[in-house]
Amino acid sequence: AVTRTFSIIKPDATRRNLTGAVTKMLEEAGLRVVASKRIHMTRDQAEGFYAVHKERPFYNDLCDFMTSGPVVVQVLEGEDAVARNRQVMGATNPAQADEGTIRKTYAESIEANSVHGSDSDENAKIEIDFFFSPDEIVG
Ligand code: CMP
Repeated sequence: AVTRTFSIIKPDATRRNLTGAVTKMLEEAGLRVVASKRIHMTRDQAEGFYAVHKERPFYNDLCDFMTSGPVVVQVLEGEDAVARNRQVMGATNPAQADEGTIRKTYAESIEANSVHGSDSDENAKIEIDFFFSPDEIVG
């Protein structure tokens, strides 16, 4: 089925002017950008978005990193969008990511790993609603 997922192009990628290069890889994987905006996340937004990781040792550094520069938040649409996006992103740790994936190609570290993508349809809906209002999504 055609579904939607939520994606973030992270500060390490925007800093290196890779917004277009990353988006091209998403598009070549069969995903369509149906919403996109460049924002500088507030501390509150980063902490809220990653609240599920609050007890993890990397939480504070992660929130520092995600507010360290601009990000591009996107809604992606395509056949099995969550799985398709996870495939083209590659493993969270770029050292373990497959050749040809975004993280293998561009990520600097497990923290500065260039992209985020939702891990389930349920979380995709929650994450899309966190950053976008319905009128900002044009399918
Ligand atoms: P993301 O998909 O955005 O979800 C949580 C993020 O935490 C993850 O990508 C990584 O960038 C970051 N992170 C930092 N350290 C770790 C770690 N040890 N394990 C998992 N995620 C980590």
